[in-house]
Amino acid sequence: MNRKIIIDTDPGQDDAVAILLALASPELEVLGLTCVAGNVPLGLTQKNARIVCELAKRPDIKVFSGCEVPLERELVTAEHVHGKTGLDGPDLPDPTMELADGHAVDFLIDTLRSQPSGSVTLCPLGPLTNVATAFTRAPDIVERVQEIVLMGGAYFEVGNITPTAEFNIYVDPEAADIVFKSGVTLTVMPLDVTHKALVTKPRNDAFRALGNAAGIAVAQMTDFFERFDLAKYGSDGAPLHDPCVTAYLIRPDLFTGRFVNVEIETGSELTRGMSVADWWGVTDRTPNATFIGDIDADGFFALLTERLARLP
Ligand code: BDR
Ligand code: CA
Repeated sequence: MNRKIIIDTDPGQDDAVAILLALASPELEVLGLTCVAGNVPLGLTQKNARIVCELAKRPDIKVFSGCEVPLERELVTAEHVHGKTGLDGPDLPDPTMELADGHAVDFLIDTLRSQPSGSVTLCPLGPLTNVATAFTRAPDIVERVQEIVLMGGAYFEVGNITPTAEFNIYVDPEAADIVFKSGVTLTVMPLDVTHKALVTKPRNDAFRALGNAAGIAVAQMTDFFERFDLAKYGSDGAPLHDPCVTAYLIRPDLFTGRFVNVEIETGSELTRGMSVADWWGVTDRTPNATFIGDIDADGFFALLTERLARLP
């Protein structure tokens, strides 16, 4: 059975790969992409989302522009990782498809109200501003969400934008707090798992060897953003964070985690956006999220390569 999803995103090379994986997969029906400011400002994330749809020859996908700034904070971006455009690496043409009419938050609200309750999964790949705004403005939609599978947070890996916070949660901790307290069934792909999804050279060569536009573009995106992570972590390749979300929807058996309590730090400036996961069950706080810790990385890259091969 197809799972209906909305991808909330701030492309970002790894967001782009996550979107391509979804568009290549018959198990997933992409109802729309809702864009948010994150890796780069909104003007670029919504443009990049359209570039990715056109790369997949899917100009029919609805792409909505959403929130321009976090709920209460100044926007923090990550050009140091993703480049000036957010999608540095491949030389892709400017999009010709138009943005869909309306605001991303209205699309989230309207879709959750019009689709059967429990039939739409949200896949946030960036700061949670759009989703939290929709939940706050229309509390009736919260119980209509089937599940949220998101990329964000860290426990064992602690942080990538600060010593204690992962980027997506750090940028809009108040939004993350709303989502983590919403009561929606939540599956979280933290750095703990995404740092095990490394694009080693043989894996990137396999994307390039596909020879299609999507495979070559993904290899070029990785060539670009791996410079940063290789220098920082000294690892074998760049982590493909966001595709863990869409891969999980297709092959949950590739992932393992624990259902634990996860709360977001909003008070402290020192640990702003820290995702405090009770991995060891040392509190009596109620579990609210399946926090993923491990991945069959070879299985993940085999899936990704096989699916990218289906694209133009
Ligand atoms: C997350 O932040 C962004 O840089 C990536 O696109 C990913 O969603 C990783 O911390
Ligand atoms: Ca992202």
